[in-house]
Amino acid sequence: MDKIVILTGAGISAESGLGTFRDEDGLWTRYPIEDVATPEGFARNPALVQEFYNQRRVQAARAQPNAAHRALAQLQAQHGGEVVIVTQNVDGLHEKGGATGVIHMHGELARALCNACGHRWDAPDTMAPDDPCPACAAPATRPDVVWFGEMPYRMDEIFAHLAQADLFAAIGTSGNVYPAAGFVQEAALAGAHTVELNLEPSVTVSDFAETRFGPASEIVPDWVAAVLAGRV
Ligand code: APR
Repeated sequence: MDKIVILTGAGISAESGLGTFRDEDGLWTRYPIEDVATPEGFARNPALVQEFYNQRRVQAARAQPNAAHRALAQLQAQHGGEVVIVTQNVDGLHEKGGATGVIHMHGELARALCNACGHRWDAPDTMAPDDPCPACAAPATRPDVVWFGEMPYRMDEIFAHLAQADLFAAIGTSGNVYPAAGFVQEAALAGAHTVELNLEPSVTVSDFAETRFGPASEIVPDWVAAVLAGRV
């Protein structure tokens, strides 16, 4: 298994204390998506949206990586071939767990973006609607996260990786949101072996050749050990 491409979702960070979106007490059960995760919601009430991300930014900064994040970093360090981690998560737990080159297709809580000039910088703990952009001074700053209706980041790079994948794993994602939910089919078209590692079957479970169910902190280290031992 030379090239491995991994997609992660909120489930890999659940045991680090960060909420998922669609589980019982998930974020989208407490906040209407259209109010806090769309450009229209931000235009309607920027203070509400900034506060929503301020809370998540502080929570993510305090969170610690779990055994699943660390196992993926170990896979990157010890596997002979390339291991590319694409995450839908906006927390920095892959990096805190030692991973490198992580592709944040939905952006990052730790980064800020200016809607006026496109400048990006490390976000302060709390952002407010009238914060001036450090580059152009316009009061047009926002969290550098991808909202519904916006194009995820680095899609060309991601599809190029999927086209070369020998092994594709989706970890902790419900398969509800495209384009990420379609990556398994892209990888399978490229001839990759595909595996879903999740607490329970995702919406796209039937697209995977192999499934492993359980908490990520248990099943991901086991799977990494199997890959490194050449048993996958
Ligand atoms: N271990 C493994 N999987 C888990 C765990 C755990 N401890 N806890 C929950 N899960 C699984 C759930 O079973 C579910 O399938 O993680 C998945 C979380 O699904 P979602 O809450 O839908 O999160 P995600 O798939 O990452 O959402 C995708 O939707 O709202 C947008 O931008 C947001 O990036 C997010 C995208």
